[in-house]
Amino acid sequence: MYPSIKFVTAEEAVKVVKSGDHIHMSSVAAAPKVLIDALCKRGDAKEFKDVRIHHLHTEGAAPYTDAKYEGVFFHQAFFVGGNVRKSVQAGYADYIPIFLSETQKLYRSGTVPCNVAMIQVSPPDKHGYVSLGTSVDATLAAIETAETVIAVVNKNVPRSFGDAMIPVSMIDIFVEHHSELEPAHFTAPDPIEEAIGKHCAALIEDGATLQMGIGAIPNAVLAQLGNHKNLGIHTEMFADGVLPLVEKGIINGACKGIDKGKMVSTFLMGSQKVYDFIDDNPMVLMQDVGYTNDPFIIAKNPKVTAINSALQVDITGQVCADSLGTTFFSGVGGQVDFIYGASLSKGGKAIIAMPSVTNKGISKIAPVLNPGAGVVTTRNHIHWFVTEYGAVNLYGKSLQERAKLIISISHPDAQESLDKAAFERFGPHFHFIG
Ligand code: COA
Repeated sequence: MYPSIKFVTAEEAVKVVKSGDHIHMSSVAAAPKVLIDALCKRGDAKEFKDVRIHHLHTEGAAPYTDAKYEGVFFHQAFFVGGNVRKSVQAGYADYIPIFLSETQKLYRSGTVPCNVAMIQVSPPDKHGYVSLGTSVDATLAAIETAETVIAVVNKNVPRSFGDAMIPVSMIDIFVEHHSELEPAHFTAPDPIEEAIGKHCAALIEDGATLQMGIGAIPNAVLAQLGNHKNLGIHTEMFADGVLPLVEKGIINGACKGIDKGKMVSTFLMGSQKVYDFIDDNPMVLMQDVGYTNDPFIIAKNPKVTAINSALQVDITGQVCADSLGTTFFSGVGGQVDFIYGASLSKGGKAIIAMPSVTNKGISKIAPVLNPGAGVVTTRNHIHWFVTEYGAVNLYGKSLQERAKLIISISHPDAQESLDKAAFERFGPHFHFIG
């Protein structure tokens, strides 16, 4: 099909892997499934040991984290996604705490070696370029620094533009395999998420540049923006929620300070509709994560509005988003990159939005974070805080003022005990703060 390229089988390709190697895999929908399966077959035969595997969130199976591969593979995640969570929690895999903006730097600085990069790409075009499609993030840095780059050429990988376009000369070994990309599944927003979406949407001004994090809340916010004008996207990821707003011309990037008219992202998580949308679409730039998530680049856009979520928030505004106590659930991702970037942007708004209680009815607002919980966004970084009960701005507020504001949008059933804890912590003066 591509006469100038010599293809080998996945089994042949993964023969380059040797004991002690570090492997990078492209993320989310672009996880190279056919190579993973071939690699695990070699792992079953114990043909090597101590092979480390790195990646951001991937969709689909991650069999190399299975307990049976102890001593053969060890996954050291840059983000703890759903498919590796149990293994990380059980210690069969591990997590490298790292700002998303710096995942590329781990490779480029040589802090984390990359012996083999395993990626998926679109078929080569007439100029000899392929596209990384849905995963540029740290993958481009891995390609630049790897001793060997193995690419699965897959016609289902969308041909996205920006840093995603690389010449075939950057690839050493080609495998042809046309599997469907793994879609990410999101549930429709529930009434609580809808209420949060409305409070966030009320903070978004016309002409804002948006970043939305992971989960159901972003789609709930986007669903409320039907009457906005001239919105832009500079983000690390987007999903299906942006598509109707692009169709209506509401997202047009007209007011952006950089990359005017373009939607900028570094990876994507969504349905096939999102993958089809970015295919051959000059409006979308898929850029290196060192660009998309650099707070100083982010801040070149005016009115950057960044909306991210949390697992737990204490009454002083410390935000835990990566662990439930000592148990790792997620990672820092790009939360701090964008919270800080938004706060530096002219007219920017950094927002942490979450339901006031968990799906099991536990208050997510606590007097203190659970022992072992990681502070992802510090109390110095937090600005706006939103639950289904409203939105409060903590920036420039004292500890006692913050506690009052945070408790005011906690669940009514939790307010009495939170108030008591604040009184015990701050003394009787607490009651006089307005
Ligand atoms: N106490 C106990 N359990 C809690 C809890 C709390 N305070 N908060 C959440 N949980 C439990 C929930 O009950 C749920 O349990 P389940 O899986 O058994 O149903 C689980 O933790 C997940 O909670 P949920 O609120 O559904 O999480 P989410 O899918 O909305 O994701 C984050 C929230 C914080 C994990 C997610 O936004 C994230 O990974 N953020 C960090 C990275 C980031 O912000 N990146 C930037 C943009 S990509």
